Amino acid sequence: MTAIWDSLWIDIDLATLQPGAPYGAIRDGALAVLDGRIAWVGPRTDLPGAPARLATQVIEGGRRWMTPGLIDCHTHILFGGERSREFELRLEGASYEELARAGGGIVSTVAATRAASEDDLVAGATRRLKPFLAEGVTTVEVKSGYGLDLASELKMLRAARRLAEHLPVQVRTSFLGAHAVPPEFKGRQADYVDLICDEMLPAIARSGLADAVDGFCENIAFGPAEMERIFATATTLGLRVKLHAEQLSDLGGAALAARFGALSADHLECLGQDGIAAMAAAGTVAVLLPGANYFLAETRRPPIAALRRAGVSMAIASNCNPGSAPVLSLLLMLSMACTLFRLTPEEALAGVTREAARALGLADRGILAPGRRADLALWDIESPGELAYWIGGNPCAAVVHGGKLVKSFS
Ligand code: NIG
Repeated sequence: MTAIWDSLWIDIDLATLQPGAPYGAIRDGALAVLDGRIAWVGPRTDLPGAPARLATQVIEGGRRWMTPGLIDCHTHILFGGERSREFELRLEGASYEELARAGGGIVSTVAATRAASEDDLVAGATRRLKPFLAEGVTTVEVKSGYGLDLASELKMLRAARRLAEHLPVQVRTSFLGAHAVPPEFKGRQADYVDLICDEMLPAIARSGLADAVDGFCENIAFGPAEMERIFATATTLGLRVKLHAEQLSDLGGAALAARFGALSADHLECLGQDGIAAMAAAGTVAVLLPGANYFLAETRRPPIAALRRAGVSMAIASNCNPGSAPVLSLLLMLSMACTLFRLTPEEALAGVTREAARALGLADRGILAPGRRADLALWDIESPGELAYWIGGNPCAAVVHGGKLVKSFS
């Protein structure tokens, strides 16, 4: 009999993240891969024959746990410079908003990003991305938003796409022209919104470099009326939207995003009941960013219990960026999501797999099921709850990306 599968993992416990048992667990399971996709998942005893006859390669997992590859669905990992001086100023009492209003914050990273070459941006993001990949991340979202002119935004999006050419990761890009008002438009915010709608968005859509359009709806950034115009233009151009909403104040951004069928509304510390109801009705995912909540020492937390009651899907992301979240570990976000936001460890793991896939509109990954991409992570743990339990350390023993073993235990 000729082998039917390329590879077959046995001697593993599976956290499939499928509905049913907690974590969708299958003890003493097996998982087969064919042509980069999962071909079979189930209890080892249900295999339709002897492993060596079923697959070209049989891999014994040493009774480790296997999960879907992790998905980081909100990052600003590509940028020039760093902002540790702002961190010092905040520790002396300045707030994130005050620094932004004084010309620091996002705008200072814009200057460094404009000055950086595309190669420099790729190199910096590669350095920051590697620890995520070592932790089992196989898909990452990367935003622009530190260029704020067409050429620099395109440079960022091109650099983001290049990451997937030399690293074992899939990249989804978001155009974030509405991140801040660039210095040359100071006092002329309406003109900058015109530029985004009339020139930048059409060019970005033509370039094919952005998978979605994002914005920052906040008093220090763009108001709901401005975001509405930007979203209307993006939607006309066939681009899905998402929004940084209700981080520092409640401007009704989440409800606005939901009205445009947004993939996600992100941050949400100040989200009210109307926003929750609108997100639930639209199927907009709540992307929770505990790293920024921690780093900015916020006292408000997203309304987790109300989101849960309303049935809003919750994802978790690193938000890796130089200002509000210099985070280099997605696993640490699981711990923070549980301790700071009171998610359960199971919700936290689902938040970086199944729900993160939903936040990116990717139906082909995020759970272990036949037909999904064979993006897999193998862990030296005794229970999947440990992924949210340890603070620091990296129990990731192996990573499979599109069916290929890209990190391996010896
Ligand atoms: O998601 N809130 C807006 N954007 C980022 C912060 C970016 C920065 O400060 O450089 C965030 O937290």
